[in-house]
Amino acid sequence: MTRPRLSRKPALVRLLSVAAVFSIILIAIQSSFFTGSWTPVNLDIPILSHFQSNLQQCVANRGLGLTAHIIDHCNVILKFPQGTNSTWYNEQFKIFEPLEYKYDVCEAILLWEQYRNMTTVLTREYLDSRPDGWFDYAAKRIAQLGADKCYNQTLCEEHLNLTLPAKPPFHPRQFRRCAVVGNSGDLLKTQFGEEIDSHDAVIRDNEAPVNEKYAKHVGLKRDFRLIVRGAAGNMIKILNGSDDEVLIIKSVIHRDFNAMIKKIRNPVYLFQGIVLRRGAKGTGMKSIELALSMCDIVDIYGFTVDPGYTEWTRYFSTPRKGHNPLQGRAYYQLLECLGVIRIHSPMRAKRKQDWSDVPSREMINNAHRAALHLKKKQAGQEGGLGRFVNCKVWGKSGPYGTGPVSGSTDMTDTRKESNYNRWEIMPFESLRKEARKHYMQMEGVSLYKMDGNKLDDLVCVKHPLKSEA
Ligand SMILES: *[C@@H]1O[C@H](CO)[C@@H](O)[C@H](O)[C@H]1NC(C)=O
Ligand SMILES: *[C@@H]1O[C@H](CO)[C@@H](O)[C@H](O)[C@H]1NC(C)=O
Ligand SMILES: *[C@@H]1O[C@H](CO)[C@@H](O)[C@H](O)[C@H]1NC(C)=O
Ligand SMILES: *[C@@H]1O[C@H](CO)[C@@H](O)[C@H](O)[C@H]1NC(C)=O
Ligand SMILES: *[C@@H]1O[C@H](CO)[C@@H](O)[C@H](O)[C@H]1NC(C)=O
Repeated sequence: MTRPRLSRKPALVRLLSVAAVFSIILIAIQSSFFTGSWTPVNLDIPILSHFQSNLQQCVANRGLGLTAHIIDHCNVILKFPQGTNSTWYNEQFKIFEPLEYKYDVCEAILLWEQYRNMTTVLTREYLDSRPDGWFDYAAKRIAQLGADKCYNQTLCEEHLNLTLPAKPPFHPRQFRRCAVVGNSGDLLKTQFGEEIDSHDAVIRDNEAPVNEKYAKHVGLKRDFRLIVRGAAGNMIKILNGSDDEVLIIKSVIHRDFNAMIKKIRNPVYLFQGIVLRRGAKGTGMKSIELALSMCDIVDIYGFTVDPGYTEWTRYFSTPRKGHNPLQGRAYYQLLECLGVIRIHSPMRAKRKQDWSDVPSREMINNAHRAALHLKKKQAGQEGGLGRFVNCKVWGKSGPYGTGPVSGSTDMTDTRKESNYNRWEIMPFESLRKEARKHYMQMEGVSLYKMDGNKLDDLVCVKHPLKSEA
């Protein structure tokens, strides 16, 4: 098993972190001295506790009234101030939204840091590698099959081929800054358009229109769009004039989608990593997962995160009901203070772009290492914290650069002119330096989730390094 190597840091930073760890050791020794029991020094808990207090400070500074209450080195409660108007009423359970939310920060940091290394587009190599990948998993991604399995793989390929690249079309660290744009009516209160367009990639949602009318609020740049089933009908109109925008279908492929895809040139894929059970998370979270699997910095716009929300509105249409604003807001704030996203909203718009109160990358990496170590220790699996510790299934891909990444043999004339090349089949040398470095560090291995939100059990597919080196 390979162990994570220390990265080369400037001498001063290294000296400071050595000093910090040394003082934690001293404190640990002292406290065990005073309690009279000598236990081997374990730094995981002090590191995580230190992280928690930074998180708490971050929530206090940025949370617009939210506060974090530490329970232990992993658990924290985010509380809205007493008297917060919880207008969301659940008819089914006859309750208002609670004002407190408990989170396991250790789990959250493991989950979201893992997304930075994931492939979140469904590929042929994934289906080939995963046990019963075609028979069972592929079947679940095709609406028409119902509860049936892929007894006939050719039949299933016919459904999926239009959306199934051979290998990952996008890479971890491919972009530096990405904007994820939600659909909130909030967006009309600000003019984030130019700022959004300044990102390396912009990810939008379902039927969100992009045009001159809304340009100053939501920008004009279009790179990715996550869509759900219901959006298929309007897609041709929405995509008008944007052949490059990559569509990523969040749920399942079905007849309407395939008919629509044959009429457009846009690259289309299926999202990998959705929870195929009831209670799937919202489009917002999926967009963030997608963004994090390709981008270093994820800026979010147009998500309802500010206090005082009474209704869920969309910038281009009338309000919809059925969302739980407080729960979402607390979770987004947690994510911001875990360094996963940066929140942009009307109430924060006038503030300086200052992220110094968000824990640093260094601190997050340390907390991640400690959380992983602690988790493995609790599971009785000391040692072996290498990059591939969660790889349960290994697969092998064909050599990079041979054969099409995307496209099926049965292309309509429209699809034959698809612009898949804008991002994918990008020569390795044209990839961003950080993406190439990551690829080499991962020894050409792509990581895929086996099941939605679970941390363990990855499908890992090895690509030859030969042509890249
Ligand atoms: C809470 O919100 C509801 C719906 O907007 C409003 O009718 C009510 O007056 C509000 N209550 C307080 C205390 O602000
Ligand atoms: C499998 O499906 C294909 C395409 O629909 C069909 O042509 C073929 O006959 C099927 N094979 C079997 C064994 O049913
Ligand atoms: C689907 O695409 C693959 C790879 O291009 C090809 O080998 C296979 O024959 C296609 N299947 C069908 C049913 O078109
Ligand atoms: C597509 O956009 C162009 C302008 O960019 C407009 O003239 C045309 O009517 C639009 N077509 C549809 C179907 O909306
Ligand atoms: C992610 O990849 C980097 C290499 O770029 C590696 O150092 C790190 O351990 C990986 N993290 C996880 C959670 O897999």
